[in-house]
Amino acid sequence: MTPSRVLSGMRPTGPLHLGHLLGALENWVKLQADHDCFFMVADLHALMGEYENPKEIKKNSIEMVIDWLACGIDPERSTIFVQSQIPEHSELAAILGMIVPLGRLERNPAYKEQLRQIQGRDLMTYGFLGYPVLQAADILLYKAHQVPVGEDQLAHLEITREIVRRFRFLYKKDIFPEPESLLTKEARILGIDRRKMSKSYGNAINLSDPEESVHKKVQSMITDPERVKVTDPGHPDICNVYAYYGIFSGNRRVQEVQDWCTGAKKGCTDCKRGLADILAERLRPLRERRGKIANEPGAVEKILAKGKEKASAVARQTIAEVKTALNLL
Ligand code: TRP
Ligand code: SF4
Repeated sequence: MTPSRVLSGMRPTGPLHLGHLLGALENWVKLQADHDCFFMVADLHALMGEYENPKEIKKNSIEMVIDWLACGIDPERSTIFVQSQIPEHSELAAILGMIVPLGRLERNPAYKEQLRQIQGRDLMTYGFLGYPVLQAADILLYKAHQVPVGEDQLAHLEITREIVRRFRFLYKKDIFPEPESLLTKEARILGIDRRKMSKSYGNAINLSDPEESVHKKVQSMITDPERVKVTDPGHPDICNVYAYYGIFSGNRRVQEVQDWCTGAKKGCTDCKRGLADILAERLRPLRERRGKIANEPGAVEKILAKGKEKASAVARQTIAEVKTALNLL
């Protein structure tokens, strides 16, 4: 049986952090074992927010791929490629744009939400409204069966599914499977200030952070505010450091932390030092792989060139089918 096709992507807007690891990359790495995976650098989508200042996108794209490889995305098993290097994405997006009702895009909850949230940037662009159409093109070009995404992307995926049905209805051609979402659990991890972990809040622990800065960031984490002295018993359940222990260490250790916190046996500084060690340990293999990649000049470029070739072959075939269905020359 041919393995089902998976496609996912990320926008190269800055360094990846623990939220990406837990919320997406760990899942991607697992999927590689029994799926035909396509992982895409969504640089055109990044342009949506960064069009006024696109000069970081190239560097961010390379860095992001290095992060992926460091996490265990395997270029021998998966196809890693850059969206803008496959012109068929733009081609299919233009075609799909003809059949998507404008009202559907305006009613997209993700669109309305972002319009409300994003400040300081002019997002009243055609590309912003059409973001889900380009995303549909990404998915359909490779006829993906499954799309691992976070909850925030479900609305976009629903538009993709509607486009598939509309295409089928209009042209009586069954080119595209209706893709399913593989819902990745919302990243359970908060930033060091307890807000959602995000580059724009400056509260993230990055996958590429050196050990010292992991330690520094952990030391600056907010703990139980009522625990002023070591002799004050703490409330681990309201402490973010404790939540991190829950994510990154085993039951026994979590129990131990709870014990020394509620029993006022150890101070927060010690507790944080222990956590920083655990995180550093968790990130060490990533750092080692990152070092290996850095020692091989041109390695990433080579991987992307191979990915481009593989993606391109699939994309060309799909566009040919679409053109036939639409009676285009
Ligand atoms: N919109 C996605 C995000 O911001 C990135 C993305 C672009 C994507 N194209 C995709 C995700 C196709 C899944 C499938 O996270
Ligand atoms: Fe949080 Fe640890 Fe301090 Fe308790 S001892 S409040 S778990 S940092």
